[in-house]
Amino acid sequence: MKKYLINGGNRLHGEISVQGSKNSAVAILIACIITDGEILLTNLPDISDVTNCLKILTYYGCDVQYQDKNTVRIKTGYQENRPLPEELAKTMRASSYLLGALLSRFGSCRLPESGGCNFGKRPIDFHINALKALGAYENTENDTLTAHNGLTAGNIFFPAKTVGGTVNAIIAAAKARGTTVIHNAAREPHIKDLASFLNSCGAEIFGAGSDTVIINGKRKLHGCKYKIDYDMIEAGTYMLAALASNGKICCKNTPVSEMQSFFSVLKKLGAVITAKNNSICVSGKNLRPIETVTAPYPGFPTDLQPQLCTLLGIVKGNSTVKETIFENRFLYAKELLKAGFVYDIDGRLMRITGIQRYRSAEFTATDLRGGAALAIAALNADGKSSLKNVEYIERGYSQFAKKLASVGADIREE
Ligand code: EPZ
Repeated sequence: MKKYLINGGNRLHGEISVQGSKNSAVAILIACIITDGEILLTNLPDISDVTNCLKILTYYGCDVQYQDKNTVRIKTGYQENRPLPEELAKTMRASSYLLGALLSRFGSCRLPESGGCNFGKRPIDFHINALKALGAYENTENDTLTAHNGLTAGNIFFPAKTVGGTVNAIIAAAKARGTTVIHNAAREPHIKDLASFLNSCGAEIFGAGSDTVIINGKRKLHGCKYKIDYDMIEAGTYMLAALASNGKICCKNTPVSEMQSFFSVLKKLGAVITAKNNSICVSGKNLRPIETVTAPYPGFPTDLQPQLCTLLGIVKGNSTVKETIFENRFLYAKELLKAGFVYDIDGRLMRITGIQRYRSAEFTATDLRGGAALAIAALNADGKSSLKNVEYIERGYSQFAKKLASVGADIREE
C-alpha cells in the first residue's frame, strides 16, 4: 500500500486546476454501455475509479482508446452480457450502475455486491425497486434482475434522495418504451451531467437537476463528443486545505454555481472568497466556529464533511457538524485523535472543540474523503507525518500529492 510523507507547517499558496468530476465520470462511463457508436469523452479525471470503469467497459466488449490522460475514445460495438468479476465490482460504488445499463442493453443483469467507501451499509434497494417499476423482475435465487421483453416506462418514486438510484433509473429509462417520470430524484450536478451526456447521444431527458425527471425512452442512442463537468468536491477539498494551512489557494475552473451552500459555510467561518479570472481564491485567518448540517444537493455536501470537520478541529471555539446522509461517516475521526483532535459524537452529530494546531502523527486512510481530511491535518501539523493507504485518495483525486506540492506543501509519495 502506498503512503505519503508530509512535513507540515507550510502555508499553501498558489493556483490549482480543478479536475473533471469523479462522480460525473463514473456515471457517464457506465452509461456508454447503452449507446451505439463512437464516444469521445474529454476532461476525464485521471483517477483509479475512471481506470476501473474503463476496465469494465472493455470487459463488456467496448473498444477503449486513450487519446491523452484526460481524453478517451470509446467504441461501443460488440458487447456480451456476463456477470462482473467480484474484484472489479468491489472497486467502487459505481459498478451498481451496471444494473440499469446491462438491463437496458441485454435484458438481464447479475451483479455481485458493489464496492464503495465503508461508511455504512450502502444498500441498493432503492435502485432495484426503481428498475422493477420499469418492468424488471428480481430472481432472488440467482441474484438476477431480468426484463426479457425489454424495459417499459413507468413511474418511479424514491422514498429518499439517492444519487446512485437516480443514476440507475435514468440509464435504465433512457431506452425504455414510453415516458418515465422519476419523482424525488437526486439533484446533484452529476445527475445533470449524466442527462446532458445522454441527451447528446439522442436521449430525451427533461428536468435533470430538479426533483422530477421526465424521460421519453428512445429505441437507439448514438455516439457523441462530450466534456465532463468540473469536480466541486475536489475544489472544495483544496479550499479547505488552504484555510487549514493559513494560506490562500485559487482553484481554476471551480464550478461556482454548484457550490453555493459550500461558499455560505466558508462565509460563516469568516473565510475570504475572491474571484480572479477563471479562478476562485480562498483564504482566511482567525476563523469562527460554526454549526452546520450535511444534506442532499443543493445542501452542504457530505463528501466535504470530513475535510470541514478537520478544519474545524483547529478553529478556536466549539463547532458542530451533523451528518444526515450516511450512518457512519466519522471513521476518520479516530485517526485524527492521534493528532490531538478534540471531539465527541452523539448519533450523527459531531461536536468539535478547536485546538491551536495538530500534532504530527502516523495516519492510515479509512476512505476516499476521510483520507483527504487526514492529509489536511498532516499539512497543518508541526513536524513529519505519514499517511498510509493513499490508494483510497487516488480513487477520486488526480495527482493529489503533486497538486499540493505545487502550492507549497512538503509532501511526497513513498
Ligand atoms: C453517491 O453515493 C456518491 N458516489 C457519494 O460520493 C456521495 O457521498 C453520495 O452519492 C451522496 O451524495 C458516487 O456518485 C459514485 P446515495 P450513493 O444513494 O449513490 C441510502 C465520494 O466520496 N440508500 O445518494 O451510494 C444510503 O445508504 C462518494 O465521491 C439506501 O438506503 O449515495 C445513504 O444513506 C462517497 N438504499 C443515502 O441513501 C439505496 O438503494 C444516500 O445514498 C441507496 C441509497
